Amino acid sequence: MPVNLQGRSFLKLLDFTSEEIRYLLELSKELKKLKLTRTPHRYLEGKNIVLLFEKTSTRTRCSFEVGAHDLGMGVTYLEPGTSQMGKKESIEDTARVLGRFYDGIEYRGFSQKVVEEISEKAKVPVWNGLTDEFHPTQMLADVLTIEENFGNVKGLNLTYMGDARNNVANSLMVVSAKLGMNFTACGPKDLMPEEKLVEQCREIAKENGSTITLTDDPKEGAKGAHAIYTDIWVSMGEPDEVWEERIELLEKYRVDKKIMDMADKDAIFLHCLPSFHDTNTIIGKDIAEKFGINEMEVSDEVFESSKSKVFDQAENRMHTIKAVMYATLK
Ligand code: CP
Ligand code: NVA
Repeated sequence: MPVNLQGRSFLKLLDFTSEEIRYLLELSKELKKLKLTRTPHRYLEGKNIVLLFEKTSTRTRCSFEVGAHDLGMGVTYLEPGTSQMGKKESIEDTARVLGRFYDGIEYRGFSQKVVEEISEKAKVPVWNGLTDEFHPTQMLADVLTIEENFGNVKGLNLTYMGDARNNVANSLMVVSAKLGMNFTACGPKDLMPEEKLVEQCREIAKENGSTITLTDDPKEGAKGAHAIYTDIWVSMGEPDEVWEERIELLEKYRVDKKIMDMADKDAIFLHCLPSFHDTNTIIGKDIAEKFGINEMEVSDEVFESSKSKVFDQAENRMHTIKAVMYATLK
C-alpha cells in the first residue's frame, strides 16, 4: 500500500513504520533537489502554521520558517513565555484555539506528554520540535546526512557517545532500530537509556536485522563505527548544578582524534548542534573558567576536520522538516 501521512502528527518515531520513515527520507531528497535547483515548490499555498517554543532554538525554528515559506505557507512564531499557554490558559484550551487558526502546529518544550496532548486536542497535525524525551525531526536530517556519505543506512554502525539517555540519543536508538542500522550507546552506566526503551528498540532492531549495544568503554564504542555522534553534556531545562558531575562522568567520552582514529577509516562525525567545541560561547567560556576545560563533548580538531559533517546535517534539518510538513499537510 502506498504511504500516506496526510493529517498525521509527527510526535515520535516509534509511531511510524520503517516504510513511512523511508518515505519521508525520499521526499526530503526530492525537496532538497528542488531547493538547490531553485525550482519553486509552493505546494501548500494558503495554509498557515504556528511555531510554539517553550525552549530556545536556531535550527529547528529556522527550518520550520524557511520550509513553510518555500511551501507557500504563512508562519506565526510564539517565543518562550509569550503566549498564554501554561500560565493563564491550559494546554488543552490553547491547543483547541490554535487548531481553529492553523493547519499545523510545531511544539518544542519539556514534556512529551504535552506535545501528545496538543496533538490530541488540536485536530490538526502537530510536529514535535524537541521534548525532554525525543527529538524526532532531528533524526531525519541525521539519517539523510549519513546516506549522503554512505548510501543506504541499513547495516551501517552508528555510535552515540556521551549522555546516552537524552532526547537525541533516545531518538537515534529508535531510528537505527527502525532502519536496520546497528546502534551503540557509549557512555557511563548512570547515563544509559531507559531499559524499557532499549528492550523495545531491540525488538524492532531484530525485525530489521540490526543490533542495539550499550557500552561504557569508548574504545569498544568507537571500533568499526561509520558515524560517531555526540551532543552537549547538559541539555536545555537541566539545572546548572549538574555541570560539575557531568564533566566528571563524560570527559572520557569526548570525541577527539584518538576516538575518530579507532572508528572505520571512512567514519564521519555528527552532532545535532549547538556544540561546545571551543570557548566562543558564554557557557563555553564560563565552563573553561570554572573547570579548566576548553572543549567539551567534541574536540575543536574533530569538529573542524573533514570528517565532520555537522553543517550538512544542519542544512538537512530544513529539507527534512519541509518533507514532514508537506507529507502531513498536503
Ligand atoms: N539541533 C537543534 O535542534 O538545534 P536548535 O536547538 O538550534 O533548534
Ligand atoms: N540534547 C539537546 C539537544 C539540542 C538540540 C537539548 O535538549 O538541549
